[in-house]
Parts: sequence; C-alpha cells; structure tokens
Amino acid sequence: MCGIVGYIGKRDAYPVILNGLKRLEYRGYDSAGIALYDGSTIQLCKTKGKVADLEKKVSEEMATKGNLGIGHTRWATHGIPNDINSHPHFSNSGDLVIIHNGIIENYASIKKELINRGYTFYSDTDTEVLVNLIEDIKKNENVKLGKAVQIALNQVVGAYAIALFDKNKPDEIVVAKLGSPLAIGIGTDEFFVASDASPFIEFTNNAIYLEDEEMAIIRLVREIKIRKVKDDSIVAPYIQELQLNIEQIEKGGYDHFMLKEIYEQPSVIKDTYRGRLLADKGIIRLGGLEDYIEKFINADRIIIVACGTSWHAGLVAEYIFEDWARIPVEVEYASEFRYRNPVITEKDVVIAISQSGETADTLAAIKLAKEKGAFVYGICNVVGSTISRATHSGTYTHAGPEIGVASTKAFTTQITVLTMIALKLAKIKGTISQTDYMVHLRELELIPTKVESALSKNDAIEKIALLFKDATNFLYLGRGYNFPVALEGALKLKEISYIHAEGYPAAEMKHGPIALIDEHMPIVVIAINSNHYEKVVSNIQEIKSRKGKIIAVVTEGDTVVRELADYIMEVPYTPETLSPLVTTIPLQLLSYHIALMLNRNVDQPRNLAKAVTVE
Ligand code: F6R
Repeated sequence: MCGIVGYIGKRDAYPVILNGLKRLEYRGYDSAGIALYDGSTIQLCKTKGKVADLEKKVSEEMATKGNLGIGHTRWATHGIPNDINSHPHFSNSGDLVIIHNGIIENYASIKKELINRGYTFYSDTDTEVLVNLIEDIKKNENVKLGKAVQIALNQVVGAYAIALFDKNKPDEIVVAKLGSPLAIGIGTDEFFVASDASPFIEFTNNAIYLEDEEMAIIRLVREIKIRKVKDDSIVAPYIQELQLNIEQIEKGGYDHFMLKEIYEQPSVIKDTYRGRLLADKGIIRLGGLEDYIEKFINADRIIIVACGTSWHAGLVAEYIFEDWARIPVEVEYASEFRYRNPVITEKDVVIAISQSGETADTLAAIKLAKEKGAFVYGICNVVGSTISRATHSGTYTHAGPEIGVASTKAFTTQITVLTMIALKLAKIKGTISQTDYMVHLRELELIPTKVESALSKNDAIEKIALLFKDATNFLYLGRGYNFPVALEGALKLKEISYIHAEGYPAAEMKHGPIALIDEHMPIVVIAINSNHYEKVVSNIQEIKSRKGKIIAVVTEGDTVVRELADYIMEVPYTPETLSPLVTTIPLQLLSYHIALMLNRNVDQPRNLAKAVTVE
C-alpha cells in the first residue's frame, strides 16, 4: 500500500501535495517524494523516511515552484526503503515522471527486455520499469502519452494506481487504476488526484472514483476524459458529492483503523498470494524461498520464533507443516528462546514471524539462531524492517500498514504465507497427494470470498457483544488447527477490551478451567465441521451441564451445535487446514464490538505499542 497525490491547476502545487501526503501517510510511511513542474523545469525531491523528512529535505534542497505536481508516500514492496527506490521515478529520457501504488508482477521480464533495448535502471522498483515501458511505447509507436499508458497497462500484470506527466505536456496528468484506489477531485479550473479524497476535501466535494481498468487524461483546458484500459471505450464520468470529514476518509469511512483492517482482510490475503499462487497451474512461487528450498527439505526440524499474534500464526503453521510436509516443528516464544540456551544445529531452519519486523525479542532470537549456525527465514510485513534484513531470506506478507495496535490482517496474511510454504514443501517432498495439493491451492484462492462472507455476519456478532460486554472473564476453546485461533481470540479480547480472557485446547478444559464455569462465564467455542467436531460437541455438552454461556463459531448450516449453544457465529465451510483464516474473523469482530461498547481506545489500547522494540 502507498499513498499518491497529484495536482494540476491555478494554485501552488507544493502545499496541496505536501498536506495530501501527510493525510495519506497511514497508507505507507517508509519513504516519500514529490515532483513539481513549472512548465520549464521538473524539480524532484525524495527521501527514505516520513513526509516530515521530505518536507525538511525540500526546504533545504528544492524550489517549490509549479502548478503541476505529483507526490508519493511509500510502503515498500519491491526494493528496500531508500532514497533511490522512493517515488516519483523518472523515465530514462527525463521526460516522464510517475508515482505508483501497487505491484507489477511481471516487472522482471519487462525489465529484462527494456535492458536489452538499452534502458538503464537506477532503482529496484517495479515502478521504474513501468515508466520506461511507457516511454518506450510512446517513442517507438509514436503515440501520445495517454495511448502509450494504455498500451503499457495492457502488457502488465498486477495492481496499480498511477499518476504521471510528460515534460512536453505541462497541462496534463494521466492516471489509471486497477486494484489500488484512485480518486479525482474536481475543482474550478483545477484537478486533484489521490488514493482517497482526504488530500482535496477542503478544496472540493466533487470527486470521481475511477473503477478498475479505467484511465483518465486530465487536462486543464479540456477537462477529463475517462477510458477503459482494455478496449479504449469512453466512460461517462460519474461525479459524486462527498459528505465525509477528513478523519473518516483516512480510515476509509470506518470508525477505527482496527475495523478497517479487519475488513481489508479479503483484499490483503489476495495481495499476499497474488502472483505467488497460480492455482490453475498447480504452482506456488515464493521469491525468497526458491533458492533455499533444499535447506527446508533437508532440515531436521523447523523452529518458529515469534511473539504475540505472530506466535499464534506460528502455532497454526506447526499443524500445517507437520500435517502436510512431515517436518517436525517447534514453536517458541522468542523471549524464552533467546534466554534458554536452546539446542540448535546447522540442520535446523528457524522461521521468524513479525508484522513490524522490529520486535526486539524476535530479533534477538534470530541473532542467537544465526550464531548457532541455523538458516533463518523471515516472514515480515514491513519491507526493509530490521528483522527482514537480519534474516538470510524470507517472504513479505502484503498486508499494507497495520495501524491499529491489535494485530488482525497481519495474522491472516502470515498464515497465508505459511500455508503456501508448507504446501510447496509438501509437494516437493511428495508428502501430499496431487489431489490434496490441487484442492488446497484452489481452496486458498477462495479464502478472500469466505472471509467476506464471515464479515457479512457482523450485525449478529455486534448483538452478541452487547449481551456479554459486562462479563469479567471469558474462556476461548478450540481443537487442532483452531486451538491457536482460540488463543488469538482471547488475546484480541483482553488487549482491547481489558476483559480477562484465556484460550485453551478444548480437551484441556477438564484438567482445570472447568472449575471456572458457572452461569456467568461466557465460553467461545470454535466448533466448525472438522475431524474434531464430535469431540468439540462433547466439550460443549460438558459446559452446558455446568450452565456456562456458549458462544459457538459454527459452519453455516450446522444444526447440532446450533441447538446446544446459546449463541452462534457462522462461517462458511472451509477445509480444517485453512479454517483459521476464516474462524478468526468473528473473534476479531466480537472483541472490536465489546471494546467499543466499553468505550475503550480500540486503536491504541492502554500500555501497548505497535512495535515492541524493547525487551
Ligand atoms: C497482538 C499484537 C502483539 C504483536 C506482538 C508481535 O494484537 O499486536 O501481540 O503480535 O507484539 O509483534 P510483531 O508481529 O510486530 O513482531
């Protein structure tokens, strides 16, 4: 995820773009840049760091003249965050300047071709490839900028929201969208472009939201022309009147970042497997894994180190790896691992999982594992983070910035990556049948739709939250793949609502926690269709005979648990191996609603921090 802003009109573009970038910083904040055009010279300034760092650099190095400009705040996907990889990017001639939010999946092959044709690349980004492809087409086919953009976009695979201009056309910005958002603000004799309406809301309430595979040529004199990228057909602009305030817009209309991030899960899970999972062809391709696959295949065991929610994702992975790839797995709290003189050898593979990539305990565990000769693989969300650099190799989740302190979309995207790794290893080792392998690839592709369906039950979950918001204790129970989900559900509730909650394997209840059960105790039980279904039903009976209040997560269409439970939260059928990606959704929503009803600070719960960089 990145934020893009553009302006063309009568004002100085710089303050409009700078303020716009500040408002879009929630979309990415590892680097920022701006290009301004005054009709004769393009001024460009970019830097690793936040928009405030860009502002400082501009004040020291750049003239801020010009009524046309574009700006970008980055969330790195290709290439670590540094000055060179920051946007905007020039084409080789210096005529075209582009900003891009998204991922061009086939950039490597296009780049190779362009290099053969004499192009030079200065950054590691897919974006620089795109702007040079556009330039190449414009030159060789002798077409205008808009046409060149259209031809180029028909050659790329991936997602984009782009804005670019040509030095030879000081009155024009070209924009296009597929997958990533793009809004055009319409003022009097001026136009704004942005990832959402927050950069221009004080200037105009009129906006056009481009649909996927639409592009627009924005000209000061002749206004806006929207076309379909695929077939060049003209689209009549639909101008909406916005009735939002800035805060609402930054949160995409949601009241909290946490809720927004919960609802982003269908799209970010897709982003995480996009280009890596080719279900029809039976292929999983993970850049960081390909060169090290032998290490995994020959490993004596896999040790997963992580903290908090990431540790829960690791626990899910333990089930998946052992089930499919038949590799022994141990999952360790990084904080314990680092201090207990663990036995590690060169035949061990250590997987470190971290959303922020900055967690001090996980980093220390990585250092220890490396000292002892283990191969260390990272699964991080933040590109270029300390952990991503400290590991030998790794895979990024593509969850985009997670701002809410309580981790939600990081969890499901981590599991998505871990699932792809496990399936790939199992395939190579021959420990999974071809049929099972293909079924799971297809099922993984269906997860975003199933998550959407689970999210659609929000209203029912809100009603349950209202009934239990004043409880002082909760138990969460699950078996097998859904035991870690029970732990995660309990963690979500305690961290944002401050209600005490414990997660347990359902079968362990009778070894102690059953003593807690009375008519005041809500117990959330994950009771979906699975190998453990009958056993979980027995556990529910045990709770019921002690008058505990049962809130069950069930598979749509379930009749048995529906009869026994006091309340149910339905999720669509999903194979048990992938079910944590779906069963976790109602638990996230339940915690959110309870915390909200208790007036808690949902996005910034007390005593917590987003990145725990201290021991
Ligand atoms: C829970 C939560 C924390 C983090 C933990 C690890 O909602 O946010 O438990 O999961 O601090 O953080 P990362 O994944 O950044 O290493």
